[in-house]
Amino acid sequence: MNHAVPIHDEHGRSFRTLRVSLTNACNFGCVYCVNGEDQGGINAAGATGTAPMTYDGLAEIVLALHRMLGLTAVRLTGGEPTLYADLIPFIQTLRANGIDTIKMTTNGFLLKQKARELFLAGVREINVSLDAVEPGIFAAVAKRAMLPQVLEGIQAARDCGLTVKLNAVIMRGFNEGQILPLLDYAIEGGMELRYLELMRMGHFYSKNFDRYFFSMSEICSSIATAHVLTPLYRGPSATAQRWRMEDGTVFGIIANESEPFCSDCDRLRLDSFGNIYGCLSDEKREYVGDIAHDAQALTQRLTQALTHKQPLKFKGSPLTMISIGG
Ligand code: 5AD
Ligand code: SF4
Repeated sequence: MNHAVPIHDEHGRSFRTLRVSLTNACNFGCVYCVNGEDQGGINAAGATGTAPMTYDGLAEIVLALHRMLGLTAVRLTGGEPTLYADLIPFIQTLRANGIDTIKMTTNGFLLKQKARELFLAGVREINVSLDAVEPGIFAAVAKRAMLPQVLEGIQAARDCGLTVKLNAVIMRGFNEGQILPLLDYAIEGGMELRYLELMRMGHFYSKNFDRYFFSMSEICSSIATAHVLTPLYRGPSATAQRWRMEDGTVFGIIANESEPFCSDCDRLRLDSFGNIYGCLSDEKREYVGDIAHDAQALTQRLTQALTHKQPLKFKGSPLTMISIGG
């Protein structure tokens, strides 16, 4: 049961889906996210100077947001959410309090160990980041030679009954040659693949973005060398433009840069330090770690966070995705 209050902006946007970054730790070092061993952009941890929330504190905020907004889904992200020690109890607490749909975005490395308990806790769908199916290219992007473990993790997840969607960030000079091999892998496994345009986040906010950016139209052109594509209707709040191929396979492209979807965005983000973000494209945040029990104060901060959403265009932010998840 929720007591949703009407929080809307002048574009009619509200918050309906929440992404929770459980930790800003990660066991990979993807080039589009962090910059070598250095994290590159601003990490929420350093920027706020606050400590990570306790398990109880973080769960309390999510439940308060749910009571207020009537969330339709919560997605767990990181960093790498499978590194969060209390992952399963956290999911159980959310589900016991009426949040039925819990999804997760993961790099897949620990999935082989975690898939079964995730399924038993009630998770039904996960997104796995897979930027290459060729080991050397995978290692160049993730900065870890861990492709076999990730592929085994994906298999284990599917064997447990989890629906797996794949996310591939395409970067010029790194993995544009993997566009078709990734699609073949997805088709073979009956998994939906979404390509992502590089976003101007973290270290790419201030430099090198144009050099590595590979556009939606270029991705389509690569696929069109081997397949016939029919565009599908993009529903409200959907982030991906989707296409159907001649054999019925559907794939998507999340094109933050070429086709921004800010105008009907309903996403709210919470980091592991208790900050909420109304928009990926704005490093402004509202600390809610101390007011989860105060509905009036929370409403005010949510209304404030909503003003951070961009009217139309995604501009990017110096904040790294390792703090706020994908
Ligand atoms: N551009 C696009 N996607 C990114 N992600 C992280 N950083 C970026 C970026 N700069 C997304 C990827 C990854 C998820 C965890 O976050 O999709 O799979
Ligand atoms: Fe880790 Fe995900 Fe960032 Fe890669 S994109 S370094 S897996 S948080």
